[in-house]
Amino acid sequence: MDNIVLIGFMGAGKSTVGALAAGELGFRLIDLDGLIVERAGKSIRRVFSEDGETAFRDLESSTLHSLVGSSNTIIATGGGIVGREGNWEHMRRLGTIVYLRARWETLAQRIAGSSERPLADDLEKARLLFEKRRPLYESAALVIDTDGRTVESVVEELIRKTGGCI
Ligand code: S3P
Repeated sequence: MDNIVLIGFMGAGKSTVGALAAGELGFRLIDLDGLIVERAGKSIRRVFSEDGETAFRDLESSTLHSLVGSSNTIIATGGGIVGREGNWEHMRRLGTIVYLRARWETLAQRIAGSSERPLADDLEKARLLFEKRRPLYESAALVIDTDGRTVESVVEELIRKTGGCI
């Protein structure tokens, strides 16, 4: 197992925190969205517009599943990974699930105008989605607050708190 799975809404900093933490721990970083783009051979926006969200979610689940068995890896997931129960099973098998938590105001600032995030085109819809998903994110094994903090400080806490788990 020996992995860390980062979850959180769009703009939570999963990829940025994951990259720095992986460097410090000597772990491999897998950006799930990046892997999906590779597998699909097109951008996430195009998967959504050409194949639909359900096709994207299927691809997301199967890509996550394909990682089970990895070790010494940090997995930065997409914000919607928490929506399917089966994904939780895969994530639990992979390792310690960590929620990078941020207030809506922080997230909105980071995702506004993001060209690669189809679900952030309409910020009011994105806010409702965040509210709906919140209890799901909260069921992670560990929660780290990121508002007003540097990436370095978040990574330090991540490494300290997961030290006993991985
Ligand atoms: C999504 C989040 C995105 C990406 C896709 C859908 C979501 O990832 O997987 O656009 O449903 O919240 P990030 O959280 O890395 O932006």
